[in-house]
Amino acid sequence: MVNRLLVWASGSPRLQQQVTQHKLTRRVAHRFVAGERLEEALAVAAELNAHGIGGILDLLGEGVTDLAGAAHAVDEYEEAAGAIADRNLDATISIKLSQLGQTVDRAACVRNLNRILDRAHAVNVRVEIDMEDSSLTSDTLRLFQEAATGYPKTRLAIQAALRRTPLDLEALAPLKPRVRLVKGAYSEPVEVAHRGRSEIRAQFKYLTDWLFQYGADPAFGTHDGELVDYARAAAVRAGKAPNEFEIQLLYGIRRDLQQELANSGYRVRVYIPYGMAWYPYLTRRMAERPANLLFFLRALAGK
Ligand code: FDA
Repeated sequence: MVNRLLVWASGSPRLQQQVTQHKLTRRVAHRFVAGERLEEALAVAAELNAHGIGGILDLLGEGVTDLAGAAHAVDEYEEAAGAIADRNLDATISIKLSQLGQTVDRAACVRNLNRILDRAHAVNVRVEIDMEDSSLTSDTLRLFQEAATGYPKTRLAIQAALRRTPLDLEALAPLKPRVRLVKGAYSEPVEVAHRGRSEIRAQFKYLTDWLFQYGADPAFGTHDGELVDYARAAAVRAGKAPNEFEIQLLYGIRRDLQQELANSGYRVRVYIPYGMAWYPYLTRRMAERPANLLFFLRALAGK
């Protein structure tokens, strides 16, 4: 119930306006968001690199409603790719297609995506594509297929919770896709997505084995210890070394696990969100874990 309320809250512009103006909420956001500026995200990436952990820079913002907003995001990503290269950081950039105008003007979105891919490729920075809600899945898969044909190192997030995902991956198999497997952060109807924890875990495990067999350089985006252990064991079964796949985690979550995995020789990458538009991201993180809501309410109460 709380979970569904928070997922709803993540999409409410009115609530967003009220919450983001609150000074304390901004402070709480800092637990999960590097800061509002690129410079702050780069500093976090450098700090993680010093601990043997890679970064994934994510400019917050999704569902832009005009092409000016999309053009701004492209400029920002080009700047981020350039800065990663200039500083010689181990970091990728992760984009949301709705941030590039996918729902406003698809042709413009394709041009925007290509600009980012060209620029990132030119400076040897890899691009990852986030997966958003199920209304965008089919189109995102099509755009990924085009992107990965030109730039095979592009990675796509794929959601284990979606019922369609095994078939989607079969369709991508000829590409030997680079995938970041995640559970899925959006509230979807039961016809579209599994809701039960054990069903989602079972599908995640099946897809983990699939990726070791048919994908390239798989990444597993999860903090779920059972699934991290499963990926480690699946790698052994598939004859892969610890550096032949990646475990990805979110900034501010399970720092103990991040460091422990890196210290044990696993390739670890942390997703570093930054930018002004942090509200939907923050509310999705709360929906995942009610304890975060308590943390948030305590901060609001000044405790
Ligand atoms: P689960 O939610 O069961 O968490 C397991 C444990 O991790 C919890 O018991 C707790 O200890 C800890 N934990 C998890 N979430 C926490 C939180 N918010 N605060 C504190 N502790 C927490 N989704 C999507 O739909 N599209 C995408 O593109 C991406 N991209 C992405 C990138 C990366 C690097 C990660 C790690 C995740 C995503 N996700 C995503 C989000 C993903 O779908 C999912 O919602 C979250 O990872 C939470 O699921 P877990 O697998 O971590 O398990």
